[in-house]
Amino acid sequence: MQIQVFDTTRQIASAVSAILLKQIREKPQSVLGFATGSSPVATYQKLIEAHENDGADFSKVTTFNLDEYCDLAQSDPHSYYSFMREQLFEKAGFDYSRVHFLTADTADHESVCRAYRAEIERCGGIDIQLLGIGRNGHIGFNEPSDRFSDGPFMVELAPSTLEANARFFETGKPPRYALTMGIGDIMAAKKILLIATGESKANAIRAMVKGDVTPQCPASVLQTHPDVTVFLDRASARLL
Ligand code: GLP
Repeated sequence: MQIQVFDTTRQIASAVSAILLKQIREKPQSVLGFATGSSPVATYQKLIEAHENDGADFSKVTTFNLDEYCDLAQSDPHSYYSFMREQLFEKAGFDYSRVHFLTADTADHESVCRAYRAEIERCGGIDIQLLGIGRNGHIGFNEPSDRFSDGPFMVELAPSTLEANARFFETGKPPRYALTMGIGDIMAAKKILLIATGESKANAIRAMVKGDVTPQCPASVLQTHPDVTVFLDRASARLL
């Protein structure tokens, strides 16, 4: 696991977007795994700028998003699909026929999960997976638990996650359930880039980097992946 510490979010976004842009220059048909949350937003902005100002072409890129809330239609403004449309896809020229989401507004979530994994494999696997991290060490929506998950599955969100994500909902109440890629799916990515900023992530970052590898801190599994780079600001790196 390689750790890089930066002074500003802008610097993190420049470093992460440079890796993603190099990847799509070298392989225009790359498969990218995307994350939602505040952490990747500045990086997405850099990708949009590269598209608008430097002709970066995302039209052949295939994407898989990590997770989605249950019981929200894709068109719901709170869905992660809507988030990605607004924060990246619409302005950076992605081809929606290559965009993949766990469609979580369906009762038949098991077949949705099976099909998602099969589709990732059919597309040749994920070249680069972008991640944030939850305050409790979750990646995607893999919450602390007794075992590492494998493929996509439906999860009941931890109270701390519901609290952290309440800010995105006027009601203050996010859906209690979500579909998420499993730890096995994330670990199968060829390269992983994780972004964390702010004091509220410092404990999770310490557990991820220095703690035991345990499903109680799902991100700790990344210690065993051969190609992970972690991009931190000074506040999130404070306890390293
Ligand atoms: C959500 C997402 C995660 C994300 C995490 C951190 O729960 N499902 O994929 O990493 O929040 O979010 P933020 O970057 O806003 O702190």
